[in-house]
Amino acid sequence: PLVSMTEMLKKAKEGKYAVGQFNMNNLEFTQAIVEAAVEENSPVILGVSEGALRYMGLEYTVAMAKAAAEKADIPIALHLDHGSSFEVAMKLIGAGFSSVMFDGSHYSYEENVKLTKKVVEAAHAMGVSVEGELGTIGGTEDDVSVAEEDALLANPVEAVQFYKETNVDALAIAVGSAHGVYKGEPKIRFDIIDAVSKEIDIPLVLHGGSGIPDETIKKAISYGIGKINVNTENQIAMTEKIREIFANDSKVYDPRKYLGPAREAIKEVVRDKIRLFGSNGKA
Ligand code: G3H
Ligand code: ZN
Repeated sequence: PLVSMTEMLKKAKEGKYAVGQFNMNNLEFTQAIVEAAVEENSPVILGVSEGALRYMGLEYTVAMAKAAAEKADIPIALHLDHGSSFEVAMKLIGAGFSSVMFDGSHYSYEENVKLTKKVVEAAHAMGVSVEGELGTIGGTEDDVSVAEEDALLANPVEAVQFYKETNVDALAIAVGSAHGVYKGEPKIRFDIIDAVSKEIDIPLVLHGGSGIPDETIKKAISYGIGKINVNTENQIAMTEKIREIFANDSKVYDPRKYLGPAREAIKEVVRDKIRLFGSNGKA
């Protein structure tokens, strides 16, 4: 069955590794992510943005995640990514999501606390975990778009306070990463991660995990990042593989002939990330 993130993230913080959230975009993504996690004996989080939800349909999304969890002997969470409202979060919990993110980062601090707290109280009563967000993460992901120059780093004092006031299970803070493809090398503020992580007992979440150098990821984990979100790298792996197949064979028409290899390409990215994050063998 699908489980909340609470237990897997608690263990990650204690063991100083990170659990990957890989976004689901269709069936092939779901299979690739779960197969890689099973083979690596790793806990895993299936992230679903509201845009991806509209694309796949709520019923198909939950059914695919449940089918994957049914035969997998590892902890799998089905998690709403960047949830926009209390109503959306409640609807998805009702449909079978085991975890939700409420992204109130575009509200004032007070409003963000108030709304996040409301989601936490309702979700926890149903055994569902909640991720909150503070500061604004740059770049574009489906409905959420923030110009790089408007991205605001999280204030460490505020972040600690936010955790204490809301009781979230994981906290995403803006520390210099961005959604999508990076223009230059991202400058991650390890000092902010360190200052916040020391004061709270839940892991911090790094969004925009695609395209960050391995050493930077490892360092971020050592300072307290316990959940890392990856989507763009998987999308690129899938699309590049399909482009390659089309370039070599202009007659191919059976989708299985290119979606199958594309699924393998995603699986290899997920496997590499799981090993990099150190969650292999931790299921
Ligand atoms: O919430 C999802 C992630 O932050 C994904 O970011 O597409 O840059 O890997 P990414
Ligand atoms: Zn994100």
